[in-house]
Amino acid sequence: MNPVRTIQQKRDGERLTHEDIAVFLNGYVGGEIPDYQMAALAMAIYFQGMDPEETAALTEAMLRSGDVLARTSSAAPRVGKHSTGGVGDKVSLVLAPLLACCGLAVPKLSGRGLGPTGGTLDKLEAIPGFRTNLSAEEIARQVDEVGCVITGQTADLVPADRKLYALRDVTGTVPSVPLITASVMSKKLAENLDALVLDVKWGSGASMKQQDDARRLARSMLDVAQRASLPATALVTDMNQPLGRMVGTAVEVQESLATLAGQGPEDLVELTLALGAELLVMAARSSGAEAGGFGHARLPALDEARATLRRQLDSGRALEKFRQMVLAQGGDPDSPLELAPATEIVAVRGGFVASIDCEAIGYAVIALGGGRQKLGETIDPSVGLEVHVRLGQPVSAGERVATLFARPRGLDVAKSLVRQAILIGNQPPPPSPLIVERLP
Ligand code: URA
Repeated sequence: MNPVRTIQQKRDGERLTHEDIAVFLNGYVGGEIPDYQMAALAMAIYFQGMDPEETAALTEAMLRSGDVLARTSSAAPRVGKHSTGGVGDKVSLVLAPLLACCGLAVPKLSGRGLGPTGGTLDKLEAIPGFRTNLSAEEIARQVDEVGCVITGQTADLVPADRKLYALRDVTGTVPSVPLITASVMSKKLAENLDALVLDVKWGSGASMKQQDDARRLARSMLDVAQRASLPATALVTDMNQPLGRMVGTAVEVQESLATLAGQGPEDLVELTLALGAELLVMAARSSGAEAGGFGHARLPALDEARATLRRQLDSGRALEKFRQMVLAQGGDPDSPLELAPATEIVAVRGGFVASIDCEAIGYAVIALGGGRQKLGETIDPSVGLEVHVRLGQPVSAGERVATLFARPRGLDVAKSLVRQAILIGNQPPPPSPLIVERLP
């Protein structure tokens, strides 16, 4: 294979074969193809796209670049969730222990925040001692003993993604449906799951600003899942206001703990239960519930599954499972989470909350030191913010709309970003559902 020819073909809108893609990617991972040629191909893919066969071939080549997590002796169905990222999105912290309470195995590999959306690992590391660098053996043991684990990707899983993502990040090639699909789905397939649910977000705090683009991404990821025989569904969800009220790291852990104790904000609870119900139903199907397996006489309906999950939150069992997970990963579940001093932001006029620029909210947290703009920057877990208002809510002049948990660093920048982000208008915006669509 001549790499220049492959780049030219894609540049000119031709289809690449399975073999072209596999040989190019293996050459890149092995060091024979340099960064500049991979960057050129990524840019050609960005402009020309890939059809479903090409996208599946790229995903498979990436998956084959490394190991997959081993199945353990446990008979519990292994399930996973992936969110395309949003502001205040703490669903994983609640959902993993919640599903483990229902007898499912959740080997969750998560990432760090970069740009305005936070990362699950950064949030969990706000808990003193919490380890996010477990080995494959530690992951397997914890899945068997606790039922859930949330940790970073190990070095041996999908090394192609680590190398390619870093390159895409600095070459303007992240927002491409086939490249995102291959990146996400290669990692999800490496978790060796029985069922997957995707939360594909659209809106001001999502990478997909338009609903149609989110739908396209969801369909592309579902197509790859289907080709890999992995049962999967996707919810297209609204990210035009933060999920829950808290945005940051320690503050999001606190809100997750409240949710695990049955006291969560309505939107976070609704989305967590909806995603979890999808997995309970798919897991029951994969373990033969229709034939009477997995303790069910029949397949549970989605609303029944939601009610089962709700009971686990209300009973305190999900919170207890979270504490077990924290202890197993070296964290102290009783350690108080320190917050920086509070500064309030009030509405300068009365009216209705017309829009919330979630990206600006995310950048405010970064300005305070609670997120990172470059890989490797350290995060101050004590900073963050609470948004007190929801879209369409009436507010009066002088009413509190947000609280910043802040140190002097970046406080003025963050205040100005939050003031501009929460727009008060004369009319409420048209109502927009949190869960827009369920696919397929
Ligand atoms: N998250 C990923 O893991 N990969 C992408 O390409 C984009 C977001």
